Amino acid sequence: MKIPFLDLKRIDEELKNALKSKFSEMLEKGVFSGGEEVELLESHISNYLKSSFSIACANGTDALELALRALEIGQVDEVIVPAMTWVSTAEVVALVGATPVFWDTDEDGLLASDWQKAISPKTKAVIPVHLYGKMVDMERLMTQAKMHNLFVIEDGAQSVGSFQGGKAAGTFGDVGCMSFYPTKNLGALGEAGMCLTNNEDLNDRIKMLLNHGQEVRDKHVMVGRNSRIDSIQAGFLNIFLERFDSFQATRKKYAKMYLEGLSDSKGLQLPSGILEENHNSHLFVVQTSRRDDLKDFLLEKGIGTAIHYPYILPDMKPFRSEGDFTNARNLSQRGLSLPLNPWIKEEEIEYVVKAIQDFFP
Ligand SMILES: Cc1ncc(COP(=O)(O)O)c(C=O)c1O
Repeated sequence: MKIPFLDLKRIDEELKNALKSKFSEMLEKGVFSGGEEVELLESHISNYLKSSFSIACANGTDALELALRALEIGQVDEVIVPAMTWVSTAEVVALVGATPVFWDTDEDGLLASDWQKAISPKTKAVIPVHLYGKMVDMERLMTQAKMHNLFVIEDGAQSVGSFQGGKAAGTFGDVGCMSFYPTKNLGALGEAGMCLTNNEDLNDRIKMLLNHGQEVRDKHVMVGRNSRIDSIQAGFLNIFLERFDSFQATRKKYAKMYLEGLSDSKGLQLPSGILEENHNSHLFVVQTSRRDDLKDFLLEKGIGTAIHYPYILPDMKPFRSEGDFTNARNLSQRGLSLPLNPWIKEEEIEYVVKAIQDFFP
């Protein structure tokens, strides 16, 4: 058997046809920037995630940068970010001229709850990352941040579809930033992202920032940029959204199969809370001290896996900084993501389980 970690060619025929007809329809209409599909996407997401404002943009990295700019975070400011995350979280802080201050994570890769120790007089904001789709305890983090008058920008790039007490990831902080990169649970057929906010003023600022600082056409009131979403991606996302709940159910079913099949594998740490509502089962990350051997073993059996992520940010050249990042570093050395997506078949999950059972007899 050959089981790729993720193969988007496997999207089912019915869905492929729906996407093709959406493309034809949009080609006939001739609207490729802004327009009805973008408005529909924003209102669908606002309804689904219960966000007062949803602002589509070019990608998740831009969403984070737009949030920082809208909050006027820049030079001399510090922003607290977890040591284990995709590079965008820290990169955008540096891009706006501020300094990312790294803090360790817990064993699951979520910003450790004592992150307040990283606060200095220069700290303006904190960016919790809902890594692998599992949400940071947002009630607690919001209380902590309020005590210190800090802005909260949620990096929800991996957590579309995660809810805590019925409230969606991305709707707790001042701004929530989502990614619709093709590999995400809600993925476009290209690049796309979104900012969520319940604050009207931030909504207005983000909208202007992503469209050259224009208040209305040709009236530029701030220095902005072009980070508009492609209408065609909004159109595709509207199609994917119709199937989102059923894809989520498939992810949960497969996550459960992994959990049950691997519960007796000694030496293998399974992801915690992956069946809960505050985890969208985006990635199924197991941990073991024999990670690299397991990866090679599975590859020999035709099973693709991935590492999210092999290095922590404070160990890398652009972000080098000292600190105790024990948990984050452990995760970078021990974590392995197993194939988990709606296009895998049940017997393939069984095959992966069997292979791992053979590795950990
Ligand atoms: C945690 C995290 N933050 C930010 C991003 C950036 O999103 P995008 O790739 O859409 O720019 C990603 C996606 O890769 C991510 O996983």
